[in-house]
Amino acid sequence: MADHMTSGVRVWPAVEQDLPDIKRLADSAKQSLGFVHRESLRRAILRDEVIIAKVDETMIGFCHFYRRQDRTFTIYHIAVEPASQHSGVGRRLIGAVVTDAQEHQASVVRLKCPMNLEANGFYRCVGFAQAGVETREPRHLVLWELLVADAAPADTSSPQESSIGGRDAG
Ligand SMILES: CC(C)(COP(=O)(O)OP(=O)(O)OC[C@H]1O[C@@H](n2cnc3c(N)ncnc32)[C@H](O)[C@@H]1OP(=O)(O)O)[C@@H](O)C(=O)NCCC(=O)NCCS
Repeated sequence: MADHMTSGVRVWPAVEQDLPDIKRLADSAKQSLGFVHRESLRRAILRDEVIIAKVDETMIGFCHFYRRQDRTFTIYHIAVEPASQHSGVGRRLIGAVVTDAQEHQASVVRLKCPMNLEANGFYRCVGFAQAGVETREPRHLVLWELLVADAAPADTSSPQESSIGGRDAG
């Protein structure tokens, strides 16, 4: 998996020592993410399925995803700490997942997001298209998907320039 580094923010796969910081960040975003189990994070880290963003030694974001055997990817959790939001960190985390999907010849990256969350605007901005709505009382989930073939090719030499799909996608 590529190591994306630019402007002091490094984006790369988590290792087990990162688990406490990832869990802390997940807990601080509990209202949006729900409860994230430490053990499921640990197992995902061991499978190389958690990407983190750090400034120096400070964890500022993570993305937990799953490589399904049918060559589709599912994003389970993504969060950027509030002080670092709206500066492109979330986009880079998604970009790293898409790069991994390209490397694994995956066809699509999917996720579900509660309809009331502002994050739905983020997914549209970074190239996901709405694929439906799932009613799971008491809340509705928006289904998002990004076709890997439509995503911009990964550019690991200048990752700060990389983007995943057009802003108008979806
Ligand atoms: C969703 C989240 C991960 C986005 O991370 P971020 O680092 O702030 O996102 P970025 O700065 O990379 O934004 C990328 C694009 O999405 C847009 N965007 C970001 N947040 C947005 C929002 N709430 N509404 C609409 N657009 C948004 C940005 O404007 C940017 O667009 P641009 O490149 O055209 O300017 C972050 O807000 C977060 O952690 N939220 C709390 C946890 C959460 O809701 N997770 C998702 C659960 S489903």
